[in-house]
Amino acid sequence: MLVTLFLRALDARDPQPILGDRLAAEAVERIDYDWAKLDKPSIVRGRAGVALRARQFDTWAADFLREHPEATVLQMACGMDSRAFRLDPPGVRWFDVDLPDVIALRRKLYSDGGSYRMIAASVTDSAWLEEIPADRPALILAEGLLMYLREAEVSQLLRRLTGHFPSGALIFDGVSVSTARATQLLKKVLPPRWYPYPAYWTAIRDESDIPRWNPDLRPRGSEAVLKAYGQIPDPRVRRCYRLASRFRWTGDFLRVFRAEF
Ligand SMILES: C[S@@+](CC[C@H](N)C(=O)[O-])C[C@H]1O[C@@H](n2cnc3c(N)ncnc32)[C@H](O)[C@@H]1O
Repeated sequence: MLVTLFLRALDARDPQPILGDRLAAEAVERIDYDWAKLDKPSIVRGRAGVALRARQFDTWAADFLREHPEATVLQMACGMDSRAFRLDPPGVRWFDVDLPDVIALRRKLYSDGGSYRMIAASVTDSAWLEEIPADRPALILAEGLLMYLREAEVSQLLRRLTGHFPSGALIFDGVSVSTARATQLLKKVLPPRWYPYPAYWTAIRDESDIPRWNPDLRPRGSEAVLKAYGQIPDPRVRRCYRLASRFRWTGDFLRVFRAEF
């Protein structure tokens, strides 16, 4: 989550940002970490992708919140993301959830207050959900999370969520089968210093996987992150993303999905 924060900060410092997440740039200045470790071509290359993904989430989240101005937002795996303050929807109750050490770091940047709260828990546990009132439609966000869980955990989590709230929408990103397999192989054959990331365990073939995980979820479309290359201001990067988006293997490696219940 420091990688995605760093990449959003780089985007924000660009004169022509894609997302323009000013709070990410401030967070990088405030967190005591050797950011030079992340300033490598192999990491920085993902900057536009991270910004485009976040922008797709913001757009769909804002659409939902316009229609449901009194909703409850549950953002799982929030990391250091500042979406609650980027969108800042009045009238909405917002819960950001992540693992305890991540929330401990997050509390150095942000505080609970008003209608905003952070919860330190693993989403695969069940108790934390009871802390969230179930009386309003929910917008459930999972950016950069489900691929790290096992498929049985994804299914169980999504069933718990739709069982808890009366109705709502789910926005999440999913990786292709070939991408997940590639990360599992890299994890197996490369030493950790060459491939320091966790493998992806849950992939999504297409929208029909969503009701297979949870029959209460009705798919409502998806967008390939790379297909949004038109929003990239730098012509060289835009050309690379456009080229990669043409091939199924690369173009479809990461999609943002939307479903309702
Ligand atoms: C790739 S980061 C994405 C963070 C954030 N959504 C963003 O876009 O910057 C993955 C996040 O998932 C969180 N995570 C992984 N497993 C989790 C679990 N079981 N419960 C809660 N959070 C989890 C990690 O702590 C981390 O913050």
